[in-house]
Amino acid sequence: MGVIETIRSEADRFIQQQDDRPYVTLSYAQSLDGCLATRDGRPYALSGDEALHLTHSLRAAHQAILVGVGTVISDDPLLTVRLVNGESPQAVIVDTNLRTPLNSRLIARGHHLPWLAARSNVDEACRQTFEAVGCKVLRCSMDEGGYILLPDLLSQLRRLGITTLMVEGGMHVITSFLLRQLVDMVVITVAPVWLGGKPSLAEEMVTHSAPDRYPLAQISAPRLEPAGRDMVLWGHLKKE
Ligand SMILES: NC(=O)c1ccc[n+]([C@@H]2O[C@H](COP(=O)([O-])OP(=O)(O)OC[C@H]3O[C@@H](n4cnc5c(N)ncnc54)[C@H](OP(=O)(O)O)[C@@H]3O)[C@@H](O)[C@H]2O)c1
Repeated sequence: MGVIETIRSEADRFIQQQDDRPYVTLSYAQSLDGCLATRDGRPYALSGDEALHLTHSLRAAHQAILVGVGTVISDDPLLTVRLVNGESPQAVIVDTNLRTPLNSRLIARGHHLPWLAARSNVDEACRQTFEAVGCKVLRCSMDEGGYILLPDLLSQLRRLGITTLMVEGGMHVITSFLLRQLVDMVVITVAPVWLGGKPSLAEEMVTHSAPDRYPLAQISAPRLEPAGRDMVLWGHLKKE
């Protein structure tokens, strides 16, 4: 079975067994030296055509797609399905203080306006501004590091009917999901370039919280498949 079929069948089973969060797929592209973007955070087109095609198929296989506000500010992504047939997922942005630019493409051009996960006591006028343009603001608890408490957000998403969630980045979001082991499937495109840029893990978050409190994240029984000039590494996150 390929990665999309595996996700579909596992998600079906997961949904029957667990109702506190969606099935979560973490998927991003990195260089040979484990970087997500250039050093100054500018996006760099790491994935070739075949890998991009896979990314869009993955998007179409999930009900929602999540990124951090850092990615929205630096990349201004659309997060839609364009290269394959299928529904675009509901965009979710983790954005504690509602820093998402109102003129970002997700708001200005999105088919479905994004849902924003903000702290529960976020500025009321700011919240109303986002709701007035049609965004849903999810009020979330905070974790010990001052970020959105992911289990709280995920359980709200499940209550809103989201059973499958794709997490696309960036660095801090990837780190948070891995540290908390809130990932079921991992799909990483490895591009055959050395970038010398921004790493896929936020070092300060890892060194401040691990290794005593969090186990090392690893993929069990990884599969490696070519996608044009790239390699795609996929498998389950090993749960401790
Ligand atoms: N290669 C790829 O596939 C790929 C994919 C996506 C992004 N990227 C790259 O990643 C870079 C952006 O990464 P980034 O680390 O700056 O931004 P990010 O991970 O997209 O967003 C991080 C921000 O999200 C907010 N946040 C709220 N709750 C969080 C939580 N529980 N865990 C983590 N973050 C939380 C925080 O801002 P507040 O405190 O303001 O809420 C945090 O600073 C860009 O350079 C982009 O090009 C690459």
